[in-house]
Amino acid sequence: MTEGLAAAWAGIASLARNPRPDGSAPGSIRPLFAADPDRFARMSHAADGLLLDLSKTSLTDQVLAALLELARAADLEGCRAAMVAGEPINATERRAVLHMALRAPREAGFRTGGEDASAEVHRTLDRMREFCAAVHGGRVLGATGERFTDVLNIGIGGSDLGPAMAARALWTPAAPMRAHYLANVDAHAWEALRPTLDPRRTLVLVASKTFTTQETMTNAALVRDWLAAAVGPDGAKAHFAALSTNLKATAAFGIPEERVFPFRDWVGGRFSMWSAIGLSLALALGWDAFARLLAGARAMDEHFLAAPLPRNLPVLLALAEVWHVDALGYPARAVLPYDERLARLPAHLQQLEMESLGKRVTMSGSLVAHATGPVVFGEPGTNAQHSFMQLLHQGTTPVPADIILVARPDHPYADSHRKLLANGLAQAEALMRGKSAAEVRAEMEAAGADPAEIQRLLPHRVFPGDRPTTTILLPQLDPFTLGQLVALYEHKVFCLGALWRIDAFDQWGVELGKQLAGAILPELEKGPKPGAHDSSTEGLMRAIRRLQGAGEG
Ligand code: F6P
Repeated sequence: MTEGLAAAWAGIASLARNPRPDGSAPGSIRPLFAADPDRFARMSHAADGLLLDLSKTSLTDQVLAALLELARAADLEGCRAAMVAGEPINATERRAVLHMALRAPREAGFRTGGEDASAEVHRTLDRMREFCAAVHGGRVLGATGERFTDVLNIGIGGSDLGPAMAARALWTPAAPMRAHYLANVDAHAWEALRPTLDPRRTLVLVASKTFTTQETMTNAALVRDWLAAAVGPDGAKAHFAALSTNLKATAAFGIPEERVFPFRDWVGGRFSMWSAIGLSLALALGWDAFARLLAGARAMDEHFLAAPLPRNLPVLLALAEVWHVDALGYPARAVLPYDERLARLPAHLQQLEMESLGKRVTMSGSLVAHATGPVVFGEPGTNAQHSFMQLLHQGTTPVPADIILVARPDHPYADSHRKLLANGLAQAEALMRGKSAAEVRAEMEAAGADPAEIQRLLPHRVFPGDRPTTTILLPQLDPFTLGQLVALYEHKVFCLGALWRIDAFDQWGVELGKQLAGAILPELEKGPKPGAHDSSTEGLMRAIRRLQGAGEG
């Protein structure tokens, strides 16, 4: 670690250890509102209509200055420039990181390793647009001459979560096609989906960057058999397209080149919903909606590239996370979209953030000196309030929460929407404000509770408060604002990678499980190899085989 970095971290640690000049604790929030009536105005920032309110965190000017010093010492701006220049900032895989090229205009001129990345992106986008027009216009038909009404995306992780999340968020009955997503190798997922689909009208996209992923290839084979049974093996071919970087494997699967929509290895799986991996969205929502999604992400890219660091939304979100995780020791973060349509956003962010930031060594291979990515989890509000919010209000460790609010709904039920927003605002206020013993006592006395009852219940009814939330307010939920929102989180992840000096774009941690599953698979069929595993794994294999009637194995 350089001297500058060490000094910046030390500055942050010292602010976290010592009381503020006014004597308040570094993690407290209430005194900050009491001292500054303009706190909301000073601590909230907007970009193209998206508002980020950081005022209900314990960030102060002094803390922000220390965090910005870390950003300077980590050369955040230099790292950003290296990403834009197409340098191999995904060092362990020697790959560039150019998801911004996916939503940039043709003339943006992204390049890497001698390749004109922007030209490559637009070649594929043009082909995707033409394909959508042909499907919607009935020029591309199923084997029996029927129009395609449903698109089935078979993929997992980054080849599923982003598009599935966006389809859930944006689909309306007026959309041109219905979208379905099949991810899990658990065939119960396919069994549940199958009766909802008519094979004659279903277009299947096999979405896999590598085209080797066990789950996806297994499901693709099941679906191919289902199609072949309905329209014959040759007919089935008319129902497939592939979204992949692996053109050899797509050909081996029998998908002709004109039905393969490629992307390059400089698109990370969890950053790929803007690439060919988004084809299910373009088909289901229509090309204009997909283009608006890209435009929203592009607007956030432009903000990220141009706004000064102290007013740069992704940078500020990342700095707040460093403060919470490293300085205050909060190990988790909740994502609470107060919009049912964003129900799958927490799942998408779980992969985006935890696969990117769940790392314990720096770029140079040494152990990190600080905690890195927190556990990310979430559910839409208000449902979350009736499940895990108890822990956020009164648990032993503060869990910062992102509260996502949408001002204008797309339904006519104004009263329901007011109640939804009231709850979202109230959760943030309650977490920050808490309720003191004196307040609880006064409330109980006013309600006529007797002193013994007050004594008994008082500790249980106290809320410690000072629990941070970050509120993101969208004017409405549409393709543009969803694009902004997701790109905001993508850039936050990039910033955290740079601040923590980790490779946010690799995912070696998923490999060992895949390897071991490969070894276990034949043993589940033929019986465990004695001594090849620990006694638990071997014992469980034997128990499973017994329950399956396969004898002792
Ligand atoms: O196993 C993790 C992972 O590699 C993710 O990073 C990726 O999004 C997912 O699997 C799917 O990979 P693919 O698109 O190659 O099928």
